[in-house]
Amino acid sequence: MKVFRYKKELKNYIESLKNQGKSIGFVPTMGALHQGHLALVKNSLKDNDKTVVSIFVNPTQFDNPDDLKKYPRTFKTDMSLLKELSPEIIIFYPDAEDFYDGKIQSEHFDFDGLENEMEGKHRPGHFDGVGTVVKKLFEVVQPDKAYFGEKDFQQLQIIKKLVEKHHLPIKIIPIPIYREPDGLAMSSRNRRLTQHHRAAAPFIYQVLKQSAVLFEKENIDTIKKFVENTIDAHAYLKLEYFEIADEQTLKPATQKITGNKYRGFIVVYAGEIRLIDNIELISK
Ligand code: PAF
Repeated sequence: MKVFRYKKELKNYIESLKNQGKSIGFVPTMGALHQGHLALVKNSLKDNDKTVVSIFVNPTQFDNPDDLKKYPRTFKTDMSLLKELSPEIIIFYPDAEDFYDGKIQSEHFDFDGLENEMEGKHRPGHFDGVGTVVKKLFEVVQPDKAYFGEKDFQQLQIIKKLVEKHHLPIKIIPIPIYREPDGLAMSSRNRRLTQHHRAAAPFIYQVLKQSAVLFEKENIDTIKKFVENTIDAHAYLKLEYFEIADEQTLKPATQKITGNKYRGFIVVYAGEIRLIDNIELISK
């Protein structure tokens, strides 16, 4: 398998592939790969001549230093998982100094307000960090298509905005959330859950599904109160926020407007671990 550590070497290699007329698919990750990541990679392998997967725990998007320190790093296992899918996959495993040209800091972005909602409020600087790393990765990889999971739905909308605002010739492909058999959304952070918290965590999706049923008839305020009270009553879970927002603008909804698309967005702490999930809400 080809593994690149330096921007320039990968960029040159990509240029040679492009000169041969090859299409490039790209899956950016922070490693600790699970089936959700592999679903993105499988889609890219299917759609493109060549697939690049980046593995980089990007320091600029962490607002919590402890989370950055404890983020799982499993490069060897990640490599074997990717190799099993296809030995043709190109891995970009950047050296942080080289990647950031010695200055590990974020650029500031205006994503037309998408960055100020939900995760933007709770994780200051997070989307500047994500925008910075993804823009730089796109410059090196120059993909035709890039794959992002819907679990981080706000991130997905922000990346679409990044591409639109910078006129990048890249198609962003959203991939539905991949869940454990018990409903817990797959996340690299799940492996850090204690046994009790792991057992409690599927409750988050159960409550989200109940909120989707309520959305058919109830008003938004009632649904929000239901989710808040139900999660708060759970001994092992602590709600950070539940929001019902418009899918496009991500602005909180106060009432349902026919024709608009809504989602329920939730963040819950299971012990020390911050879990994020969302669900599509359809009004009958
Ligand atoms: O979703 C992630 O894993 C990260 O935010 C990303 C897109 C790889 C940027 O570091």
